[in-house]
Amino acid sequence: MSYVVSISGSPAVQSRSTWLLSLAENALRARGLTVRRIDARALPPAALMHADFAHPAICEALELIEHAQAVVIATPLYKASYSGLVKTLLDLLPQAGLAGKIVLPIATGGSLAHLLALDYALKPVLSSLGARHHLPNVFASDADLPATEAGYTVLAETAQRVTASADALAHALHEQAQLRELRTKAAGVALAGAPRQSQIQGQSQSAAAAALVRCAT
Ligand SMILES: Cc1cc2nc3c(=O)[nH]c(=O)nc-3n(C[C@H](O)[C@H](O)[C@H](O)COP(=O)(O)O)c2cc1C
Repeated sequence: MSYVVSISGSPAVQSRSTWLLSLAENALRARGLTVRRIDARALPPAALMHADFAHPAICEALELIEHAQAVVIATPLYKASYSGLVKTLLDLLPQAGLAGKIVLPIATGGSLAHLLALDYALKPVLSSLGARHHLPNVFASDADLPATEAGYTVLAETAQRVTASADALAHALHEQAQLRELRTKAAGVALAGAPRQSQIQGQSQSAAAAALVRCAT
């Protein structure tokens, strides 16, 4: 089953970045996508800190990430970087733990001062985990998310950025699904033509399938 995993990376109970993540989750669900949330703060702290891969909650979180097609990561900016809580979770992923996945970073910060932290701190980590398809970051300062009695509210410009990101993520997933379908078809065609193909010296079946995908796109 195809789904998006969302990761909330704030240690705070009352959290702006988690609230902004919820907004993005709702926008994704409105586009027909399934979203499954990991609240990093709800993971057992000792298991997280001691990299206890055998702990059921850690296992479940890692498995959820492994099978997701896209990952939305929300973090507060702490000390000019992303939160340590996000880091403890990312550190548990295998080296290619985000390979083939679309990633959307979301962050909130006290001001615009450390906005680039997503590019110089978070993005290199996501890339080193294999993520290649990075959607543009969504950032909101605390002033962009004024507190209300019920929680927070969002300024129009920030809401617009969340909508645009949800559109971009839904579009990217759709394209990925189409490509997968083409690859499956191409592999089927390549297999059906195997006797003739075998006459082509040095051309492997997978190369032929890849060529068919290129032709079809
Ligand atoms: C320990 C700590 C460190 C922070 N460091 C920064 C920082 O370096 N740059 C920044 O823009 N905001 C910083 N902030 C402000 C938070 O990023 C901001 O309030 C954010 O919206 C909090 O998100 P949250 O409510 O999801 O935890 C810091 C806040 C705390 C508590």
